[in-house]
Amino acid sequence: MANDVFRTELCELLGIEYPIVQSGMGGVAGPEMVAEVSRAGGLGVLAGLNVPPDDLRRMIRRVRELTDRPFGVNLWLHPALRPPIDPRSVPDDVVAGAQGQLNRFREPLGLPPTVDRPPAAPDFLGAAIEVVIDERIPVFSTALVGEHDAAMIRRCHERGVTVMTMVATVDDARAATSAGVDVIVAQGGEAGGHRSIGDKPVTPDAQSISTMAIVPVIVDAVRVPVVAAGGIADGRGLVAALALGASGILLGTRFVATRESMAAEYWKKRLLESDATATTLTDVFSGLWARGLRNRFSEEYRASGAPVLPPLVQRSAANDIYAQAAKQQDGEFSPMWAGQSIGLIHDLPGAGDVVHAIVREARQVLRALDTRVRLA
Ligand SMILES: Cc1cc2nc3c(=O)[nH]c(=O)nc-3n(C[C@H](O)[C@H](O)[C@H](O)COP(=O)(O)O)c2cc1C
Repeated sequence: MANDVFRTELCELLGIEYPIVQSGMGGVAGPEMVAEVSRAGGLGVLAGLNVPPDDLRRMIRRVRELTDRPFGVNLWLHPALRPPIDPRSVPDDVVAGAQGQLNRFREPLGLPPTVDRPPAAPDFLGAAIEVVIDERIPVFSTALVGEHDAAMIRRCHERGVTVMTMVATVDDARAATSAGVDVIVAQGGEAGGHRSIGDKPVTPDAQSISTMAIVPVIVDAVRVPVVAAGGIADGRGLVAALALGASGILLGTRFVATRESMAAEYWKKRLLESDATATTLTDVFSGLWARGLRNRFSEEYRASGAPVLPPLVQRSAANDIYAQAAKQQDGEFSPMWAGQSIGLIHDLPGAGDVVHAIVREARQVLRALDTRVRLA
């Protein structure tokens, strides 16, 4: 069926058939997922987080072998990565407190205890941005672009790269459009994964505004197309987002539970078995606020009152635990990012099927609305 109702300005701008964007989720969204989504008429986005630049280039070329449709590459431009925070800046007692709690997780996994200072996160971002520009990726998907990024955005435009950035507040939306971004993704508090906020707030609540509330405010504040993200997993969500003034939707959690997703099997299984009460907003996995499934790690760390290391230094400190837990297929000791839409997710389709199902459902919703809601 020809796409008529859903051809928004976002479709025109990005050259896609349906206004459905798959999040470039770190460790989850590889070339196969991206190609499936783009072939189905949405925008597939490749995850660039923590990928060494040469590998990123190889993955981009793999997407191009699989499809000639538009696609994106995501890089998370968090201030704590530009450059990565130096772990030597962390006081000794804070390192000791965090490692003391982490050692309680190492023990059941058979890992040796350590009190060492963790290494710094790898510094790939500058080189990865050059790969995106050099490869003329149709869409550069970022989180946290600010006014200081105007020159980089101009370089993207000179190479024909459209820039889409994710924000969680209206001030950040304004700053990103002042810097020249072409599309804003408005991230609501329901979203899985990290909050799209720069400096880490003491608690995440003030900057974790629901999708329902943040999307229309950002739509009113900026002149570029806005994409709604957070808590959306089906056609009802697409229609609701369009009603709020968005030009499209971006989904993360729904795509974690797909055949092409690189998420571990135990993670996918937990997603299918859980409802929306199973997630928590926590900083204990990475040092930044993020929404994921509750497990022994999140709950025991929080209950212990142990200090949390600075943004992404915490993740470096716990990486041995996450790697070992993954090897042992143990979902209790590693992050499993997920949003509040998990109550809507009951199957493990192909990523392209997700796009088709959303469009099919959205058409049904519009027809049903037409009979249920009558204007006087
Ligand atoms: C597993 C997972 C990994 C994510 N990784 C990234 C990432 O690498 N970069 C990024 O900008 N956003 C990332 N996000 C956040 C998403 O872009 C988006 O805000 C969110 O998934 C939308 O809400 P939903 O999960 O309810 O669909 C991730 C989300 C999830 C669930």
